[in-house]
Amino acid sequence: MALATDTAEARGTQRRLVEEIRRLREEKNAVILAHNYQIGPIQDLADFVGDSLGLAQAASRTDAPVIVMCGVYFMAETAKILNPHRTVLIPDSKAGCSLADSITGEQLRAWKAEHPGAVVVSYVNTTAEVKAETDICVTSGNAEAVIRSIPPDKEILFCPDMFLGAHLERVTGRKMHVWMGECHVHAGIRPGQIDEQREKFPGAELLIHPECGCSTRYVWGQSVGAMRADGTHVLSTEGMLRRARQSDRNTFLIATETGLLHRLRKEMPEKRFEPADEGAVCRYMKMITLPNLRDCLRDMTPDVDVPPDILERARRSVERMLSIKP
Ligand code: 13P
Ligand code: SF4
Repeated sequence: MALATDTAEARGTQRRLVEEIRRLREEKNAVILAHNYQIGPIQDLADFVGDSLGLAQAASRTDAPVIVMCGVYFMAETAKILNPHRTVLIPDSKAGCSLADSITGEQLRAWKAEHPGAVVVSYVNTTAEVKAETDICVTSGNAEAVIRSIPPDKEILFCPDMFLGAHLERVTGRKMHVWMGECHVHAGIRPGQIDEQREKFPGAELLIHPECGCSTRYVWGQSVGAMRADGTHVLSTEGMLRRARQSDRNTFLIATETGLLHRLRKEMPEKRFEPADEGAVCRYMKMITLPNLRDCLRDMTPDVDVPPDILERARRSVERMLSIKP
């Protein structure tokens, strides 16, 4: 449950929780990593805030014995895959992902059997079992560079996000076999809402996450250059931050989960950021709260475990992902 912050009492409770979390983090020698979609107070106290690629990179760099992942389960699994000998905690182990749930290890094995010799490219939003069946993982931050690195004569199986798959086919010109999965939050961003916001904020840049169905409607068939001229960009969450810093425009419509607005507004208070659709809220990301983060650090549970045989195979595909720079 989100913490009410609109009364003096609630603000006092929040302040005490934050102090307790900071104290426990020091006592346990833990590092707190938070995704860009986390609630503001968690982003504000985290040691690192970033997109899926940034979180995996931070997890691979840390030497802290305890990693707390404020994000969803596949992100905590990825941190564990990269740090098998460290303790990885997640404040709520039921924080799942509708996209990761759209393909199982068994389904991927059956798909591979239909295409022997194909290179399997999986989005990082997948279970450890799917990563173990994968040749190379990608995030929205480096997917294009990964696809371009695969020899042209190779067949590619891309899973599980169909909109990211379609976007990659368009920008790289590469034909792939694409799994028909989707994220319920991004697929649910309503084009009608975006049209209304564009009318309300004429001249605003529209920044779209490639998991959105609307990325197809707004930019399908346009070249990357034309997208720029139109003020529409398809970007990972970290890419949106970079674009907003570089752009000379002052207003931006953000087509992704609304948690990113906190960081955008905090880092660029002189610019205006509005949601393309304010209903784009991931209930899984919002399952991480200050009280369960405090409990998790205090009790050192729930911790994330990945069976050793799966972990070893999954690590190869995640390490390949980290070796290719966007
Ligand atoms: P990025 O953080 O990689 O942009 O992905 C967004 C997302 O939906 C993560 O679950
Ligand atoms: Fe998964 Fe979508 Fe939530 Fe990201 S926003 S964690 S892809 S359900």
